[in-house]
Amino acid sequence: MSQKKKFYITTPIYYPSASPHLGHAYCTTMCDVIVRGKRMRGFDAYFLTGTDEHGEKIQKNAEASGVTPQQFVDNIVNNKFVPLWKAMKISNDDFIRTTDERHVQTVQKIFSEFLKNDDIYLGEYKGWYCVHEESFWTDTQVDENHLCPECGRPLEQKGEPAYFFRCNKYVDFLTDFYDHNPNFITPVARKNEMVNNFIKPGLQDLCVSRTSFDWGIPVVEDKKHVVYVWLDALTNYISALGYLQSDDSKFQNYWNDEDAEIVHVIGADITRFHTIYWPMFLKALNLREPNRVFVHGLLMMKDGKMSKSKGNVISAYPLIERYGVDAVRYYMVSEVTFGQNGTFTPEQFVERLNQDLANNIGNLLNRSVSMIEKYYGGVIPAYEGEVTPLDAELKSAAEKAIVAYEALNDDLKVTEAYQEVMELVSKANKYIQDSEPWTLAKDESKKKELASCMYHLANVIYIAGMLLSPILVEKAPKIFDQLGIPEELRTYEAIKNFGNLSGLKVQKGEQLFPRLKAEEEIAYIAEMMAGPKEKAAA
Ligand code: MSP
Repeated sequence: MSQKKKFYITTPIYYPSASPHLGHAYCTTMCDVIVRGKRMRGFDAYFLTGTDEHGEKIQKNAEASGVTPQQFVDNIVNNKFVPLWKAMKISNDDFIRTTDERHVQTVQKIFSEFLKNDDIYLGEYKGWYCVHEESFWTDTQVDENHLCPECGRPLEQKGEPAYFFRCNKYVDFLTDFYDHNPNFITPVARKNEMVNNFIKPGLQDLCVSRTSFDWGIPVVEDKKHVVYVWLDALTNYISALGYLQSDDSKFQNYWNDEDAEIVHVIGADITRFHTIYWPMFLKALNLREPNRVFVHGLLMMKDGKMSKSKGNVISAYPLIERYGVDAVRYYMVSEVTFGQNGTFTPEQFVERLNQDLANNIGNLLNRSVSMIEKYYGGVIPAYEGEVTPLDAELKSAAEKAIVAYEALNDDLKVTEAYQEVMELVSKANKYIQDSEPWTLAKDESKKKELASCMYHLANVIYIAGMLLSPILVEKAPKIFDQLGIPEELRTYEAIKNFGNLSGLKVQKGEQLFPRLKAEEEIAYIAEMMAGPKEKAAA
C-alpha cells in the first residue's frame, strides 16, 4: 500500500460569463504552485479546477449573444479558460464543468437524498435578490438603498416557491466544528466575520431551488425547479471525484479518508458559502469535512476591483507573451502575501522581476557559472566539506531554508515559503562578496578555499532552483541545465544531500532572467492596460 500522504486542493469553479482576468489566473496559479510543491515533495496530490456554468446570469448573457446557454459556456470554457490554464502551465488533474453529466447526476442524487431525509422542504421565498451575485439577501443585510452588500448593484424583491435547506438543524454542529478545528478557516479573521455577520444574527434556511429560470440542473422530483446554484456549485468538489457514481475510486482515495488533507482555496467573496453551507451539506450527507478553507485576497487595480464596467480588467495573456509564464507566476506569488489583498501596478511588476529574478537569482547563476568556467574549465570542483566559516554558514542557511520551506508549504504560506528561498539566494550573492573568489584565485595557497567556494555556490543554486521549480516551471530546468545536473539528481530528495555535484560540467546558456528596461516596459504595460487586448485561443 502506498504510504504517500494524500493532498486534495481545489480552486473555486469560475463563472464562464466572460473571459478570465488576472484575478482568476491569480487564484489558480497559487493553487498550482502549492500542488506542484506537494507533488515535488512526494505527496499523492490531486488538483481540481473547473467552471460553474448554470444560473440566471449565464442564461441572460447567452440570450444577449443570441446563442443557447450551452453554446455560450462551451465557447468561453473551450476558447478562454482551457487555453489560459494551458498558457499559465496549470497542472490540474481534472477540469469539472457543472454541465458535465457526471456532475448533474451527483447533484440530483444529493438533492433526492436531502429530500428523503427532510433536510430540504418546499416553501416560499421572498427576499432581496442580486442577479449578479446570484444571492438572496435578508432584510437585515440590506440597507435602505437596497443595494447588494457584496457588489453594490441594485437588488430586486422576489417571491417564488422554492426548496430550502434546513440550516438550523446543523448550526450547533457547525459552531462545534469551528471550535474543534481552529484552522478550518484561514486567515482567522474570516472566521470571526462568519460568526458575527451570519451565524450570531441567526442563520436563515438556504434557498436551494429556483423556478424563475431554467438554466440549471432539474430537480427530479419537481421538474418546475432547477437546483439553485450554490448547492449545484459546491457539489463540484465531490462530483469530480466520482461521489455517488459508478467509479468512485478517486472519492474514496482523496475524500473518504480521514488522512487525506483537503484544502479549498477561495476568494473572500464566497467565504460564506464554503464555510457555512458546504460543511452543513457534507454533514447532512454524513461525509467528512475539508481540513481548510483558505481565503485569499483580491488582486486589484489602482482604481479598485477589476471590473468590466470600470474597464480596468487585465488579462494574463499579454504579460505571458512578453515576459514569459514564469515571470507572471513569480510576480503573483511574491508580490502579494497569500491571504492579503494586493494591487497590480506596472511599476511594481517590473521592479519585482528586476529585483528578484534578474538581480538576485539571475545574477547569482551568471556569476557562479562564469567563475566555474573561468577557474575550473567548467567542472564543478569536488566537495571537500566546509573549508571556511563562510562555507559552513552558507550550507547551514541552505539546510535551514529547506526545513522552513517545507513547514511553510504545509501551512499554505506560499509567499513566505518563496521569500525564504530568495533570502537564501541573497545570502549566496553576499557569500560571493565576502569570500572574494577573485582574490582567492590570485593566491596559490588558497586553492582549497576557491574550490570550496565554487562548489558551495553551485550546490546552493541547485537547492534554490529545486525549491523555486513549482513557480519557475520553464526556467528551473534551464537552471539545472546550466549546472549540468543529470536527470536522476533533479529530485527534491536529492537536494537534501549536500555534496552531489562534484565533477559535473556546467554550461553557460542563454541569459535566463534578463534585466528589463524599466521605463520602456512600464510604458508598455500601461498601454496594454489602457486597451486590453486579448489573445484569441490558439
Ligand atoms: N462560481 C463561483 C464560485 C463557486 S465555487 C463552488 C464564483 N465564481 S467567480 O468566477 O465569480 O469567482 C471565483 C473566484 O475567482 C473568487 O473566489 C476568487 O478566488 C477569484 N477572483 C475573482 N476576481 C479576483 C480578483 N480580482 N483577485 C483575486 N481573485 C479573484 O464566485
